[in-house]
Amino acid sequence: MANSMAVTIQQLAKWKQKRRPIISLTAWDYSLAQVLDAAGVDLILVGDSLAMVALGHSSTLPVTLDEMIHHAAAVCRGTKRALVVCDLPFMSYQASVSQAIASAGRVLKETDVSAVKLEGGHPRILHTVDELTAVGIPVMGHVGLTPQSVRTLGYKQQGQTTSEAHRIIDEAIALEQAGAFSLVLEHIPRDLAATITDKLTIPTIGIGAGDRCDGQVLVTADLLGLSAKLPPFAKSYVNLRQIITDAVTDFTQEVTEGKFPEH
Ligand code: KIV
Repeated sequence: MANSMAVTIQQLAKWKQKRRPIISLTAWDYSLAQVLDAAGVDLILVGDSLAMVALGHSSTLPVTLDEMIHHAAAVCRGTKRALVVCDLPFMSYQASVSQAIASAGRVLKETDVSAVKLEGGHPRILHTVDELTAVGIPVMGHVGLTPQSVRTLGYKQQGQTTSEAHRIIDEAIALEQAGAFSLVLEHIPRDLAATITDKLTIPTIGIGAGDRCDGQVLVTADLLGLSAKLPPFAKSYVNLRQIITDAVTDFTQEVTEGKFPEH
């Protein structure tokens, strides 16, 4: 039975109107999803950043659709309230509209996620978003720094020149017109993110895009201090690497000294 308290896509749009910030974090497994959901996170993103933070790859490019589905299904099993969105990984949607529909269709059929996210605002992607929404698959867009384009764009801040900024504004408007229900704005100047947020009726979720977005997202491994290296815009709220190291050291010491288990 559907959970009447569960966050919906329509709810996100209402929160934008009311200026109620949308809280979003990434998750890649069951127990993390349970904790984030119970803590009140509104939108859990099964981001393809899991390729790096959970699977040890050096970029998001290698993660497969099967792997994303495996992680998304686990996250959904741990989530009761939050809206769960799954990234379509690199080369699971760029080749053709039919490839995108087949990939997104698998995600929706094989997991309980509510929507998929895909990157970019090129006319090809706009057409894909239009076709996905036409067949009933909700889509979240992602503009600015798009990590799946690392080989062409790198990881630098996007939208620094006037022409780049205009291109990103046009992409954001076109994504809304194509049917996207929300947009991630990644690593763009604050004023550009504010302009886009004001121009759109759909909510913007910022990461490295300043405080004027409708919501904020972080990669949870960064927030928890699990990542070896942080992007310049991320913030760690706890040093979990150190806390885990201390716990493992205590366990090792107690076993070595015969203190655990007690007899
Ligand atoms: O993959 C991811 O985690 C993302 C967020 C950075 C928005 O796309």
